[in-house]
Amino acid sequence: MDDNGTLWLPEGASTIAGEVDALFYFIYWVSVIMFIGVIGTMGYFMVAYRRRSEADRPTPIKENKLVEASWIVIPTILVLIVFTWGFKSFIKLSVAPPNSYEITVRAQKWAWVFEYPDGVISNELHVPVSRPVKLRMSSGDVLHSFFVPEFRVKHDIVPNRYTSVWFEATRQDTFQVMCTEYCGTRHSYMLALVVVQSQDEFNRWLQESRISEDASPAERGALLYQQQACNGCHSLDGTAVAAPSFQGLFGTERTFEDGATATADENYLRESILQSSAKIVEGYPDIMAAQRYEDRLTSEEIDALVAFIKEQ
Ligand code: CUA
Repeated sequence: MDDNGTLWLPEGASTIAGEVDALFYFIYWVSVIMFIGVIGTMGYFMVAYRRRSEADRPTPIKENKLVEASWIVIPTILVLIVFTWGFKSFIKLSVAPPNSYEITVRAQKWAWVFEYPDGVISNELHVPVSRPVKLRMSSGDVLHSFFVPEFRVKHDIVPNRYTSVWFEATRQDTFQVMCTEYCGTRHSYMLALVVVQSQDEFNRWLQESRISEDASPAERGALLYQQQACNGCHSLDGTAVAAPSFQGLFGTERTFEDGATATADENYLRESILQSSAKIVEGYPDIMAAQRYEDRLTSEEIDALVAFIKEQ
């Protein structure tokens, strides 16, 4: 990933990175010079004008036009430079080029879902190199924030509206998407990979990821497992994160918060998707109802998910 980064920032990998870094370092060095100037002068004054005797009284200074003018003019110029420069970059970052490739992003506790124009759905963000990509982002629950440090883009994802970011990746590599808005228990695990590929490799990946028309219910369920962000909480390898793993779940005896038990059959799975609060497995929080899957899934989709979970 980043080898040539600095203490502050990893090596840039988008067309906007150079501009963002230049402004960052301008503000950084101005701050360093100001800090040394102010603290240095203060230190010098402390020594030079220290009180030497009881009778030592400084002569009051009435005014010094040059000093007064400089502390007004210099900061004003600096602030105007930072504003103009920052505003220009902000506009550039806000408005995606009209020929951008658009990808839909859904953020949900605690997974990223990327949906491509031709229907491919993935938890990894694959993008072609040297082509502007616009992300149209929405949240299924709370505030999240999309951040790829190497691209120098970060944007909040807010419930009930679309927000967007755009970037043009400059080298083929793999980077990390982070969620930078605290969104609950597994916020720090809300990660995804960005895979920057050549246009050919990207097209091949899209081709391979497309689900065929005659997919079995379990195959469609596997896709829904990603698409509906089930994987944000339910693992397939037995690790219990915010919710029980799907591994070996079907047919087992479940114990609930109130001490009751039931066998995980088809009806149990269906109920757990539609009315997840009805039976809360012992030791887990009652968090799934907030996602309102009963409003989001069709009965076919529920069948597909049940078929998928049975196979785990
Ligand atoms: Cu999503 Cu933090």
